[in-house]
Amino acid sequence: MEKRKINTTARSVDTTEKAEDARIEGSLRPKRLDNYIGQKKIKESLQIYIEAAKKRGECLDHLLFYGPPGLGKTTLSVIIAAEMGVNIKITSGPAIEKPGDMAAILNNLQEGDVLFVDEIHRLNRQVEEVLYPAMEDYAIDIMIGKGPTARSIRLDLPHFTLIGATTRAGMLSAPLRDRFGMVHRMEFYDLDELSTIIMQSAKVLNVEVDEKGALEMARRSRGTPRLANRILKRVRDFAEVKYDGRITENVAITALDLMDVDKMGLDHTDRNLLMTMIGKFSGGPVGLDTLSAAIGEDPGTIEDVYEPYLIKNGFINRTPRGRVVTEAAYHHLGLEMPESGEV
Ligand SMILES: Nc1ncnc2c1ncn2[C@@H]1O[C@H](COP(=O)(O)OP(=O)(O)O)[C@@H](O)[C@H]1O
Ligand SMILES: [Mg+2]
Repeated sequence: MEKRKINTTARSVDTTEKAEDARIEGSLRPKRLDNYIGQKKIKESLQIYIEAAKKRGECLDHLLFYGPPGLGKTTLSVIIAAEMGVNIKITSGPAIEKPGDMAAILNNLQEGDVLFVDEIHRLNRQVEEVLYPAMEDYAIDIMIGKGPTARSIRLDLPHFTLIGATTRAGMLSAPLRDRFGMVHRMEFYDLDELSTIIMQSAKVLNVEVDEKGALEMARRSRGTPRLANRILKRVRDFAEVKYDGRITENVAITALDLMDVDKMGLDHTDRNLLMTMIGKFSGGPVGLDTLSAAIGEDPGTIEDVYEPYLIKNGFINRTPRGRVVTEAAYHHLGLEMPESGEV
């Protein structure tokens, strides 16, 4: 059996995909729409579109999912292909370097297939341009010959559905964005939904969790299923080593405190970010680049990974002049908000 360690140093609440997630995410990924918890609005509209497309014997319109990491974009895309009864080809923006690579991928699709492009905002311009006629007319233009006799010929493609996923809808070029028939923003999950996901995963992992234990883990999962599953695994390890393997509220609290994940799911990185804003910039407003330099984190990571949850929970506000720490954040950190503080 693989040796498991309780890791207390690495950031536990980083929502980006880690090797440890990949190892078990396969088994925890729901396979059908019915087992996909939450995202009610998206699911409802997808259900209708899928049924309609199947009735007409057509493929689904191109779809774009955007939102923070770990909210289920990849999972949902795989489910859509399964519900449509077609194959899915999975690739990502940075993986496709040349227009010819994209043309080859498109040309190899079968009628009705789903092409999933993760991090689609990172496609380069030339590759993106191959997608325009492909999405619009199911065709690609290929240059034949060189010099004055060069001409372009149009090659028909099978009908397919492009599903793009991105953490940054704002970085997508307008011509690409406009070619998606449906654009959906993924929402953070509520406590009920996260508890259900945790219970569902606990069954797969064969670990006993009681209701209060699940709720406590849900509370500290930052509204993110990937984290809920990761926390479940870590707490399970703890429960096996220190207790009888059962995850109760008490076991969950003890383990999560040890992992330095607080009651709101914030860890030292989040607290450091808030404390830096308070200590060095009097609570703001502070610009993203300034903040990034002060805490030594990439601005993109702050924007995609840390900030959305802090903003959603009302710990940070974004104003035209920069980020501002809110009263709720001072309160959460056990600090007094200065009188002159502007929020
Ligand atoms: N709606 C959901 N219901 C149940 N589990 C989910 C759901 N969304 C995500 N998950 C779990 O979270 C993990 C991460 O989801 P993923 O689709 O990889 O996120 P993203 O692609 O948005 O980063 C998946 O492996 C899956 O186990
Ligand atoms: Mg993904």
